[in-house]
Amino acid sequence: MIYPNILDTVGNTPCIQMQNVAPSGIDLYVKAEFFNPGSSVKDRLALSIIESAEKSGALKPGQTVVEATSGNTGIGLAVVCATRNYPLVIVMPESASVERRQLMRLMGATVVITPAAGKGSGAYRKAKELVDANGWFYARQFENSANADIHEITTGKEIVDDFGDKKLTHWVSGYGTGGTFSGVARTLRKEMPTTRLILAEPDVAPLVANGKKQAREEDGSVSVSHPDWNPHPIQGWTTDFIPLVLQESVDRHFIDDVVSVSGPEAIHWSRQLARKEGVLTGISGGGTFAAAMKVATTAKKGSVILCMLPDTAERYLSGPLLEGIPETMSATELALSKSTPGYQLDSTS
Ligand SMILES: Cc1ncc(COP(=O)(O)O)c(C=O)c1O
Repeated sequence: MIYPNILDTVGNTPCIQMQNVAPSGIDLYVKAEFFNPGSSVKDRLALSIIESAEKSGALKPGQTVVEATSGNTGIGLAVVCATRNYPLVIVMPESASVERRQLMRLMGATVVITPAAGKGSGAYRKAKELVDANGWFYARQFENSANADIHEITTGKEIVDDFGDKKLTHWVSGYGTGGTFSGVARTLRKEMPTTRLILAEPDVAPLVANGKKQAREEDGSVSVSHPDWNPHPIQGWTTDFIPLVLQESVDRHFIDDVVSVSGPEAIHWSRQLARKEGVLTGISGGGTFAAAMKVATTAKKGSVILCMLPDTAERYLSGPLLEGIPETMSATELALSKSTPGYQLDSTS
């Protein structure tokens, strides 16, 4: 297949049926967003935000783009900005993984790190300060309507095209901005109204599950952390506020169930998907899958469940996902290596 540029490869990701981990009598599928060119679902919103700002005139040729993000949106924007020649400044908390910063810099972005203690809202405030001081274009993924819109017309439509005749009983997703959830939910409510829409959330950050209102500025932005938020290891999920983009799903009653997932459950299922299904997804993919497995164990036989996998395991090389996965040879591997006469390694690999 020939494409005129990398951006034409965004979207149309595959849905893959699980062969070994699904409970019997349940058809369990994952939608693998790591097939996007920046290896995450966020390529969709990055392209949508830039294209809609170009159309409206909010973004001028050569103007600097700025965004606060824990990583994947920065990488998605870096892909788009490199292709379309916009300088890019990304603000991210120091808690996000180091390889993400390096990938963005590899694509020419400037990456500003904020203290972990300031959380997601701290990075957001810093980005706003830079925008106000420099007149840059602020992507504002947490409030920008172009975010959910692209999921309504691409992700949601792809699901309807793939599952229209399979009677999808449950669709499961976590949330960062809520763009995936709100956009897909709009389409599924209209086209497949019997499908149950399930939101996954960290057990230590039950922002939606507890139902407390989020304090908000007049423009929809947030400067105060939500009282129910606590730190969790599921990067990309649930920052310390309920984004305006997700609020649409709360207000329009799109969320049929909230399933709570712990950090260890998320890591467990990310590892199981690698080992049992050959699917490399990040911790949040494992978290979403953990929620899907909880749904699957109580669902009726014959249920068809689709779970979103936002990104790839390769984005988590320095974090807890690979902790305890050995770099050096085990006794068995060592014994196998020594069976070749004259075999000599340079180091203690
Ligand atoms: C790593 C990662 N990226 C993106 C998303 C989805 O993000 P959004 O809600 O912003 O569409 C998630 C949520 O599950 C995620 O974990």
